[in-house]
Amino acid sequence: MKILAIETSCDDTCAAVLDNDRVLSSVISSQTDLHAKWGGVVPDIAKRAHQSRIKAVISLALKRSNLTIFNFQFSKNNKERIEQIIEKGMKDIDIIAVTQGPGLAIALSVGVNTAKELATKYSKKLVAVNHIEGHLLSNLVKNSKGLPERKIAFPSLGLTVSGGHTKIVLVKRNDQFPISNFPTRGLPEGRQFPKFEYEVVGETLDDAAGEALDKAAKQMGLGYPGGPVIERLALKGKSDWLTLPHPMSGHKGFDYSFSGLKTSFYYQIKDWPKDKINKSLSNLAASYQKVVIETLLLKYKKAIEFYKPKSLMACGGVMANTALRKELRKMARKMNLPIYMPVKKALNTDNAMMIGLVGYYKAKRKEFTDPEMLDRDPRAGL
Ligand code: KG4
Ligand code: ZN
Repeated sequence: MKILAIETSCDDTCAAVLDNDRVLSSVISSQTDLHAKWGGVVPDIAKRAHQSRIKAVISLALKRSNLTIFNFQFSKNNKERIEQIIEKGMKDIDIIAVTQGPGLAIALSVGVNTAKELATKYSKKLVAVNHIEGHLLSNLVKNSKGLPERKIAFPSLGLTVSGGHTKIVLVKRNDQFPISNFPTRGLPEGRQFPKFEYEVVGETLDDAAGEALDKAAKQMGLGYPGGPVIERLALKGKSDWLTLPHPMSGHKGFDYSFSGLKTSFYYQIKDWPKDKINKSLSNLAASYQKVVIETLLLKYKKAIEFYKPKSLMACGGVMANTALRKELRKMARKMNLPIYMPVKKALNTDNAMMIGLVGYYKAKRKEFTDPEMLDRDPRAGL
């Protein structure tokens, strides 16, 4: 099954082509340069950038997948060339998968409307995908050679951390077969392919962890996105330089809160002259990052002890952070549990590969959506 996947939930315009669960091509057009000076994503700028880039991104993904031989002279006109490639490339596609939500409403609309247009024009089946489910299952995406072959034991406890969400999710499979070894015969319909059930057991009550990093970075004048800049600066800083609170640490349950940390940081440095902040950037970044990581681990560890999963899965944009990955690995080793994280950075941050994978499972279970009925769902739950 050949899948064209589209993702436009935030500030990355993404398309990918998959052959079942294997990625043939992936294109991510990042808009960070457009949002950097505003210190965060501006929805209207995101929408317009998605609109102007989406078709080019899709045509590039189709071309790079090498599914289609383009044995004709491309038009010299850029717009016509894009249409030519899409027209021919779509012949080799079976299914279109698109992010329906959660995300920024007007950004989601661009992907959803494009997917509906293509599905109608080329008579393709359409699958609507939940963005968080995409992040959670990003650990199961394979490259074109079918690697990595992960046999993840379920139930698994997922930690998904990005600029828009921070959740601990219990992931259960309601079929008993190893993920990379689908038996295809002799099984009742709907049980031939994995069906996952999700239970959100903890989540942030206010800001997401990535948002907390982005806001602190903005206050320090470091631009957007803040996570990678804070990570880089933290390498040279002292992590116990500034005393910051660990929000909700004494609170029962597995929910997070990051707004108290952000506010405490804000008040501690708000009256500092610019040169004092600039001289202290590494120490500030190291102190802030340490508390974000410790807070994430504290509740995750509690939830692991309570739910006793067979494995752990970590994902989302913030999981690109090397210090966080290292601490999570250390914790998993101590708890004697296998932990899975996406094999490459592009699978942590927003991408269409993960949307294509979920789309593949849903298509195999025949969970299609009528293009006329499909609408964005900015507040979609799991
Ligand atoms: O998953 P993602 O690309 O988009 C959302 O769905 O939000 O996550 C983006 C978030 C941003 O807050 C960004 O600052 C953070 O992920 N991020 C990082 C790193 N790379 C991206 N945070 C910490 N360290 C990083 N290396
Ligand atoms: Zn995301």
